[in-house]
This record gives sequence, structure tokens and C-alpha cells, in this order.
Amino acid sequence: MNMFLAPQGRTYLIVTLSATLSILVNFQEAYSNSYPNTAYYSFQTYINESYILRGNVDGMSEDMYTWVWSLILNIWFLGYLFGVFFTPYMTDNYGRKTSLILANMVSLLGTVCCATGISTMRPELFFLGRIVASASCGVSFITLILFLQETTPTSMRGVASFLSETAFIFVSVIGMGCGLNAIFGLDLYKLVAFAIIPGIAAVLIMFPLKETPKFLLIHRKDKKAAIEALKYYRGYAKNYDDIIANILKECDDKLHVPLWKALNDVLFTPHLRKALLLGIASLQLVVGIWPIVYLSTDILETHFSNETAQYASFAFIIANFLASTFGLCYVDQFGRRPMMLGAGILNTGCLISYIVFDRLAGSVSHLYRYGCVASLIGFGITYGGALGPIAIFISSELVAQRYRSLMQSIVFGMNTSISFVLSFVTLPMYKLISAWSFIPLFIIPSILALTYLYRNLPETKGREIHDIVAEMIQNENPILFARKRVASRSLSTVTMESCLDEESEKSA
Ligand SMILES: *[C@@H]1O[C@H](CO)[C@@H](O)[C@H](O)[C@H]1NC(C)=O
Repeated sequence: MNMFLAPQGRTYLIVTLSATLSILVNFQEAYSNSYPNTAYYSFQTYINESYILRGNVDGMSEDMYTWVWSLILNIWFLGYLFGVFFTPYMTDNYGRKTSLILANMVSLLGTVCCATGISTMRPELFFLGRIVASASCGVSFITLILFLQETTPTSMRGVASFLSETAFIFVSVIGMGCGLNAIFGLDLYKLVAFAIIPGIAAVLIMFPLKETPKFLLIHRKDKKAAIEALKYYRGYAKNYDDIIANILKECDDKLHVPLWKALNDVLFTPHLRKALLLGIASLQLVVGIWPIVYLSTDILETHFSNETAQYASFAFIIANFLASTFGLCYVDQFGRRPMMLGAGILNTGCLISYIVFDRLAGSVSHLYRYGCVASLIGFGITYGGALGPIAIFISSELVAQRYRSLMQSIVFGMNTSISFVLSFVTLPMYKLISAWSFIPLFIIPSILALTYLYRNLPETKGREIHDIVAEMIQNENPILFARKRVASRSLSTVTMESCLDEESEKSA
């Protein structure tokens, strides 16, 4: 029995394993989307030079370059979208672990392709590498959240899932740092190829780990392997029957319906549709982060020199990260609702105060510009401290196993599409109407989403998923629920038996 890396229920090992996994698995995505920020000029030279090398002696025009560069950056969202929609197929057929191994391998391939594109002066290869890496990152980002949620005990589910985003922000700090001229900013090959090291580690670390107990029990119907996995992740227990019974409460007879049928269920079953809308609304609160991570330097240059704007942006991402490590300590103490909604309100408030200071700096006194920096840092703190990490995993706590990966996939698909549009629109709109553009782009959608969440989001902290789902069903359909409740005892027994049917047949 392989117990290498096994946390066995020990808190510090669960945290260490979750953190290491999150950093390694999210590395390619977070890194390759943060270094272009600081290494912007080196990329411009590289693309221009490769163009000149092909016989265009005058080089690339500014206009054409802007077009090429935003294509290279934004292609990420399209590849990612493909990965996101491919995820349920991968995770539900091959399991969470195998999906992560495959995705990490493909993403390593993408990074190697990018690095080759730099060393051979072929931006096409760099572009292709980004498509390959983004598609696999779409799979690995979502699968990692499922993996963390399904391997950790209920009491630590929040911390482990929160870690995924903390790690993401941490790697963004590394990426922005490495992109500085003082580090790898002037040597693009080193900058890009650096990601190969954590890429290899990400593939290797997955092999000794076990598949998640929930997947083994519900999808594979392998009770013995599930108990092994439970021992591996949660440690020894006197009685596994209780834990198994609890997990099986998430299981229903719809487990083997095809994906398109499940999609139909999600769209037309009231409580599933409600979970879907809650997931979309939660992620709507965080769409502002990417345009701001991409453009904060540009936006701050309205009031500051280029260098000061860069440092302010760097301060923003560091504050974001520090707040996130702080939030980790509180996520399983305070509820998800107060944390996410409270941080969401403050986060939107920071955008509003940015506009106010921006106006004052322009019309009253130049000193008000520091209020803009403070608002940006406040935006980072409220994002990292609670809003971002919780918004990203909350939807997977609202549905049972059968629908979890499908739900994450639809919610992230919607979100990626919205981010794609926003990342194109934000800069032109900012140039057109300055900070006022935040109102239609971010502030109004956030207020609508916050209102919806305030009214409908159930508290999920410290509760088993089947219990949360039951509450959602009850809220959506009180009469039906009351009727079902009468028969609930016999119903759950039947479900459990049907879930383990094949398993008992096998052992018989
Ligand atoms: C590319 O290089 C040429 C020649 O050095 C220069 O005139 C042109 O402005 C450069 N274009 C960009 C987008 O940097």
C-alpha cells in the first residue's frame, strides 16, 4: 500500500498537500498570464524583430502590433473555454486524478512549445503553445477544485478550496516579479522556459496520489478502493460505514444518464437551475479582476509616471496575495455568505471610490490620486481576502456529485466568455470615457449579482453537500418536498442500495 504523501487526516499535511498541488497545477496558467504584464516591451521587440527577420525591413506598425498582441493574449480565453467544456467528459469518465495527470502533461507540452517559439523567433509557435496550454488549463483548474473538495474532510473543505485561488494569486506575484527587467524581463527565453520546471513537478506529484473517495464510490462503485482513499486522505476511522453512507446520500439513480441529458436536468430542474444562477452570479462578482490585472498599470498612468504605476500595480497584487493567506485562516470559521457578500460589497465600493478619487484628482487637487492607489489596493484586499476564492468554489458546494463537474463547467464557461468580451472592451472604453466606464462594465452587474446572491445563496460552511442540496430542493419546491419527506426514509435506503448494487454483485 502506497502511503507516500498521504495526509491521513492530519491538518498540516492536508494544507501542505493542497497548497503544493494548487501551486503546481495552477502554475502554467497564472504564470503565463501575469508575466506579459511586466515584460510587455520585451515581447514587443521579440515580435517586431521576428517580423523584420522575415524580410519586412520597416518592422511592424504600431497598429498591427496592438492587434497581434491582443490576439496572442486573448486567445487564452478561447482555448480555456474549449478545456472547460471538455472537463465533465474527462473527469466523469477517467476520474479526477487521471484528468489532472493528462491536463498537466498537455500543458507542459504547451509551455515547451512557447519556449521553442521564443528561441527560434517564431511567434506562431508561441501562439500555438498558448492555445494548447490554455485548453489544458481549463481542464486542470476546474478538476483541481473538484479534487480538493472531494478529498478533504468537510471541516477543511473551505480551506483546501480557498487555497487553489491563493496559490493562483501567489503564482501571479511570481509571474509579475519574473517579468521585471531586473529578473527575467529582458530574457524572454528564460522567462518562458522557467515554467517547465514546475510543469514537470506538476505531472510527477500526481502519480502517487489516490483518486478521490467520492469518485471511487459513486462513479466507480468501488467501496473497497474508496475506503483505501478515505484512509489515505482522512486517516483511519473506526467506522467507515457512516462516512460511506454520508457520501452515498449524494448519489442518485441519475448517475449514468448521458451528459446531454444531465445538461437538460441542470437547465430545467428548479433547484439545479437555481444553483447554476448562483454560480454565475458569484463569478460575475469577480470578472473585474482580469482586466484590472492586465491593465492596472495602463489605467494608473492617467495620474502617475510609468514606473510609479508599475510599482502600484505590484503593490496591488501583493496585497491581494497577503489578504488571501489571511482569508484562508477565516474561511472555515465565518460563513461563506457573510464573507463573500461582505467582501463583494466592499470590493464594489472600492471601484466606486476609485471613480470618486479619479474625478477629484482631475478637478480639485492632484493629491487625490493617491486615493486611486488606495482604492486599487482595497480592491485587491477584498478580492483575495474572501471574494475571489469563495466565488470560485461556491457553485461546486451547491450540487450533488452527479452534476458537480458539469455545473462547474457551465458556470466557468459563461464566466470565461464574459471575461473574453470584457478584456477586449475595457481598454477602448476606458480611453473613451475614462473611469466612468467602470459603472456599466463592473459596478452595475456586481450590484445586481450581489442582490441576487443576498436573496438566494444558502450557507454551505461545515455542511454535507446532500444537506445543502436538500435545502435547495425544499426552497424551490416546498410542496413536493413535503410529500417526498414522508417517504424519505425508505427512499434514501433504496438509493443507497441501488448505488452499491453492482459492487455487492461483484463481491458475491
Ligand atoms: C519595429 O521596428 C522598427 C525598426 O526598428 C520600428 O520602426 C517600429 O516602430 C517597430 N515597431 C514596433 C511595433 O515596435
